[in-house]
Amino acid sequence: MSEAKRLAAEKAIEYVEKGMIVGVGTGSTVAYFIEALARIKDRIEGAVSSSEQSTALLKGHGIEVLDLNHTGGLSLYVDGADECDGNKNLIKGGGAALTREKIIAEASETFVCIVDPSKQVPVLGRFPLPVEVIPMARSLVARRILALTGGQPVWRDGVVTDNGNLILDVHNLSITDPVKLEQELNQIPGVVTVGLFARRPADVVIVGGQPPQVL
Ligand code: A5P
Repeated sequence: MSEAKRLAAEKAIEYVEKGMIVGVGTGSTVAYFIEALARIKDRIEGAVSSSEQSTALLKGHGIEVLDLNHTGGLSLYVDGADECDGNKNLIKGGGAALTREKIIAEASETFVCIVDPSKQVPVLGRFPLPVEVIPMARSLVARRILALTGGQPVWRDGVVTDNGNLILDVHNLSITDPVKLEQELNQIPGVVTVGLFARRPADVVIVGGQPPQVL
């Protein structure tokens, strides 16, 4: 799969234009994208990063990391996903970076999602849905999610997000209406971010392969 990830990441470089500030996601596929971006770093103005992990990689490659509050809106965001359906709706947050990822997706004109073929599914939900929660609300949110969806929320023990919060992974969902579920879960007090990217899905999905498929 890592070759497919690399091929998707290399293809995404075609979306990077001279002088851009590029929104950069998190994960193993994005790590390949950062490597590719480093090769053309003199052509871009910098990057906005979605995690401490990506910030370290970007800086390690000599790419300037900028604050979204100073850059304003971005033209391009490139990120991976844990699952992707036929409408470019995504499950994200396997790396616990969903909140900053969702902020950058919202701030960006074009969201290019880079995946290997294993991430494509007809219906989202096989991958447990990550939900970032305020620590004191962990069990309240878990009870509400169980009642609302019938899915089983499991605390990702030992994980603290870059924002100081916790992650619940919701198992056994079959997400036939991702926009509705995203909205409903967002209403539960204590939920910071739901790892469903449906209200703002990807604009382009690149599936790594020989050749890569652009959807
Ligand atoms: C990070 O929280 C996730 O949203 C990532 O985008 C996702 O987990 C990426 O997976 P890969 O490591 O397979 O690229």
